[in-house]
Amino acid sequence: MSGKDTGALAGLGLEVVRVTEAAAYAAAKLAGRGDQKAADQVAVDAMRNALNALDMDGEIVIGEGERDEAPMLFIGEKVGTGNGPAIDIALDPLEGTTLTAKGSSNALAVIAFAEKGGLLNAPDTYMEKIAVGSGYPEGVVDLDNDPADNIRAVAEAKGVDPKDVTACILDRPRHEEMIRKVRSTGARVNLISDGDVAGVIYTTDPSTGVDIYMGIGGAPEGVLAAAALRAIGGQMQGRLVFRNDDERARASRIGITEFDKKYDLKDMARSDVMFVASGVTDGSLVRGVSLSNGYVDIETLLLVSESHEMRWVKGRHPLSTFEG
Ligand code: FBP
Repeated sequence: MSGKDTGALAGLGLEVVRVTEAAAYAAAKLAGRGDQKAADQVAVDAMRNALNALDMDGEIVIGEGERDEAPMLFIGEKVGTGNGPAIDIALDPLEGTTLTAKGSSNALAVIAFAEKGGLLNAPDTYMEKIAVGSGYPEGVVDLDNDPADNIRAVAEAKGVDPKDVTACILDRPRHEEMIRKVRSTGARVNLISDGDVAGVIYTTDPSTGVDIYMGIGGAPEGVLAAAALRAIGGQMQGRLVFRNDDERARASRIGITEFDKKYDLKDMARSDVMFVASGVTDGSLVRGVSLSNGYVDIETLLLVSESHEMRWVKGRHPLSTFEG
């Protein structure tokens, strides 16, 4: 960490990297083996063990589901040694279970840390999302605008033709109309099969060519992406999408009262955060896990909002670190 870091998060230090490294290594062993549940489970187990070694009084606010349906890393679960700062945690031990099972690229192990109360406690429902990177006027795009208008607004702000704008969208039938409207402006669409935490982060990195992320994905992934953007810069809005009363009840149980609220970045990541993502399989943000000569290489992206610090941490560990 840089000398600027103060407060609860700074105390966690680079140890946080071990948490996603452990999950990434465990999941990577099952990459391409066609069993997404098993890959998720080993990532959960490994992440939980690593989290419990951290000196903090941690509580999961976004995890694997509610207590009765998730044996580990459920919402409300306490993690850490109990000695240290009070920290709220959002996590997705395997963001891209299908990607991993298929041996496809871009699977990540992801976690965000914040001071108590620093993250929106979002239910495990869907969320409408829109995001752009930094450098745009505040409010340049809006969830309530037509997708074509959002593309034109980005193009105008960039000083380019809409045909030179690229939108990243999850490849789902629910997005057919949105994709059609985006393409009607001449803009390109980068369709991703999974992994919209990375999809949002792409907007912050000119080398990806992605200017705007839009569409409906998981709400937990929305908050994780907001945490990343809080650190790197950018704009994002999200609105929960409920498919039935059970999902509304889930939201009520964790304190959501306004079901149609449009959340902005600061509502989702309210205080300083640390965002950590290790590559499971090779991806645009980080390389995946690889093994050679008894060593394991794992690449991790670490984002610290207080110092606006971005680090790519390349870990090389003896295999015995993970295999005991
Ligand atoms: P996994 O469940 O396979 O990890 O998929 C993750 C993901 O693609 C997220 O990135 C995204 O937010 C969500 O699933 C989209 O949900 P759905 O697949 O139901 O459209």
